[in-house]
Amino acid sequence: MSAFPEGFLWGGATAANQLEGGYQEGGRGLSIADALPGGKDRFKIVSQPDFDWTIDETKYTYPNHVGIDFYHRYKEDIALFAEMGFKCYRFSIAWSRVFPNGDETEPNEAGLKFYDNVIDECLAHDIQPVITISHYELPLDLAKKYGGWKNHYLIEFYERFARTVLTRYADKVKYWMTFNEINSAAHFPVMGQGMVPSTGANDKKNVFQAWHNQFVASAKAVKIARELRKDLHVGCMILYATSYSYDSNPKNQLANLQQNQDFNFFCGDVQVRGEYPAYTKRLLAKYGLTFDDLQITDGELALLKQYPVDYIGFSYYMSMAVETTDRDTSTVAGNLMGGVKNPFLKASDWGWQIDPTGLRIALNELYDRYQKPLFVVENGLGAVDKPDENFYVADDYRIDYLKAHIKAMAGAIADGVDLMGYTPWGCIDLVSASTGEMSKRYGFIYVDLDDQGQGTLDRYRKKSFYWYQDVIKNNGLEK
Ligand code: BG6
Repeated sequence: MSAFPEGFLWGGATAANQLEGGYQEGGRGLSIADALPGGKDRFKIVSQPDFDWTIDETKYTYPNHVGIDFYHRYKEDIALFAEMGFKCYRFSIAWSRVFPNGDETEPNEAGLKFYDNVIDECLAHDIQPVITISHYELPLDLAKKYGGWKNHYLIEFYERFARTVLTRYADKVKYWMTFNEINSAAHFPVMGQGMVPSTGANDKKNVFQAWHNQFVASAKAVKIARELRKDLHVGCMILYATSYSYDSNPKNQLANLQQNQDFNFFCGDVQVRGEYPAYTKRLLAKYGLTFDDLQITDGELALLKQYPVDYIGFSYYMSMAVETTDRDTSTVAGNLMGGVKNPFLKASDWGWQIDPTGLRIALNELYDRYQKPLFVVENGLGAVDKPDENFYVADDYRIDYLKAHIKAMAGAIADGVDLMGYTPWGCIDLVSASTGEMSKRYGFIYVDLDDQGQGTLDRYRKKSFYWYQDVIKNNGLEK
């Protein structure tokens, strides 16, 4: 018997800005992702004090403009997902396709038509769409004119966007998430909150205000969904990095507890429990702030309480270790944050520490805390693939990584955790969010495109494609 429940949602995950391309087609407006240059320095460039979201093609390349051209090839790609046996496909809706500037009152019908087609194509293959309403792709005007999520007006614009897509697809799409990796702004507010240094990203007050506005917007989306149909599931989406104390030093243990609260739990606590946790006071004080510094109304707090999310979606790639003493420890890279090196773990080519057991711990920690269904909506290994002359990639390293994480999920289910599904990240190669590279690949499907934008864009099945096909067929790993 499989360790995984019947109806387990096996699939894969992507985001509009990283794969669609067609950035000026069908009336689409620009998004913040279109203004992020490609290359390892992209975060450094957008963190300059004078960065103002200008797209300068004479200076930089912008890989998100082309993505992997899913905009024109979605049928072929969804057919490949179906061939692997996907039960679900997680993707996001580009806000700027539907509301090109973000603040219009009427949606762009051509943009919606594209998602009609994508959703219908999934359903024709018995693949359930799982939609992220906002995944690092705020309409650029909302970042430039309104200064990003710190501005209260964005709640209204998001509500209109969410109402438009939820209403249009309520009868076809059951699974939704409101904001991708909402907590990532703790380290990097550019992508999640649309704020850069010149619009106040370095002022923590803005980050907390932006979060509050997003919590309210998220609760409004839940309310809309509830009113539309009783069987819609709306989740939050958290970047979860299991965190360990470096050792048994009580100082490190306390720092680790606080690291967990401040990063892994803060946003989920508000979105799942419907209220700010007690430690918010300490967290705000860390930055010299109190609740009085934020604009929060009683009506908004009541809304948060009334409309918590139904499930917890989260990404899991790696774990962190916390060390507060002066001992000399080397540091590691991570998705948006760093930490000290854990001597028990190996890391990916990009320095992300590989830790399948950490996923089992994450699942237990989250389920103990919330007792609501969990959904691993991102996980995977970013690696350099070397195709042979027939473009075949024997990616055993990726299979090993995923296999170990699937075993960890099976362990957590045996522990009693209610896990709904698993959608590995970048099920087809796409543009990296942190580095804008194509060479950091996650997919089961190889896309012939390099960091300079050269290549045929043709798709090829990797070894992991056939392996994952078997996993889904067996509803888990064979014994
Ligand atoms: C998550 C994001 O942080 O990690 C994705 O939700 C992103 O958008 C993924 O692509 C992997 O990160 P990267 O930087 O390797 O693309």
